[in-house]
Amino acid sequence: MKTEIIVVRDPIAQAAEIARAAAVIRRGGLVVFPTETVYGLGGDATDSCAAKAIYAAKGRPSDNPLIIHVAAPQDAEHYAVTSPMYYKLAEKFMPGPLTVILPKKDTIPRSVTGGLDTVAVRCPSHPVAHALIAAAGVPIAAPSANLSGRPSPTLAEHAIRDLDGRVDIILDGGPADFGLESTIVLLDGDNATLLRPGAVTYDALCCVCHRVDVAPAVTAAMAESERALSPGMKYKHYAPRAPLILLDGDAAAFLTTAARDPAVGILCYDEEKAALSARGATLFPIGARDDLTAQAHWLFAALREADEHHELQKLYAHLPPQNGVGLALYNRLIRAAAHTVLKV
Ligand code: TXA
Ligand code: MG
Repeated sequence: MKTEIIVVRDPIAQAAEIARAAAVIRRGGLVVFPTETVYGLGGDATDSCAAKAIYAAKGRPSDNPLIIHVAAPQDAEHYAVTSPMYYKLAEKFMPGPLTVILPKKDTIPRSVTGGLDTVAVRCPSHPVAHALIAAAGVPIAAPSANLSGRPSPTLAEHAIRDLDGRVDIILDGGPADFGLESTIVLLDGDNATLLRPGAVTYDALCCVCHRVDVAPAVTAAMAESERALSPGMKYKHYAPRAPLILLDGDAAAFLTTAARDPAVGILCYDEEKAALSARGATLFPIGARDDLTAQAHWLFAALREADEHHELQKLYAHLPPQNGVGLALYNRLIRAAAHTVLKV
């Protein structure tokens, strides 16, 4: 299939392009679109054929459910059983990078939810995403717009690289803002379980929910016997081509260990560039040490770039802190490293 790439920087001025992409969604086609977290691979969430096409384009197992994207939080009423806590969270965090798992209604086919009785609902804040969903008039099912096993795309170029020829349209809205996928929570009355950390932090959720539990799989390897709260937890996650090792230690110990071997790639902080480049390692800077937001923004682009360096035998990165946005970085990196941590 020929993929049309459309640059959209102003969805209001470019309403005609948005309408064209929305028509493609309505007739069962696939449209890649930017969100404030990462790019999504969208299709009509009420159409089981569109869901099948999404799984095929991504090469994703069809029991790993999709998030449905709505134009306004109250639109969830048509597709899910909401609750007072859903609306409390919506009031504070929607539109925005939060996904809530709710009991599903029959309007959403089981092929979208991987056979589950629940559905993941998200209302993105990105103007292009919002305009597309509103124009389509249907909820848009969208996993991240990468081939299965690759990092989520934070630039249109990443999505083009993975999905050119596999989708009808790619809307290029420039860099995704946050750079890691949305926070996912499962609700039980006024309590929540954090299934995937993201831009909406644990502390922020605690301000709204009575109690917030963190699913063990967020930070630890899942035991064989453990039941996956989210099917995404049990799948082999993205891992870079060269094995990734997370170094747990102070700045000096990191520099000494990381620079010992010139055949390594290092995901480093900006302030380490000078010291490390003098020792011949290949560097992938991800932001300043204290700027977790910048690190979240650059992480996936850095990992994609590292995968292009076929000469690298090994990758090193800092073990991120677990506070604030750090927990989202920790979760993505610990899985990419298959839980390999070296105390230095
Ligand atoms: O930021 C995001 O959430 C992006 C953008 C495009 O919105 N989307 C995204 O989708 O990251 P995806 O499919 O790559 O990740 C969705 C995760 C998967 O791990 C899936 O298992 C989980 O959400 N999930 C979806 N529906 C679920 C459900 N009903 N119960 C539990 N987990 C669910
Ligand atoms: Mg994904």
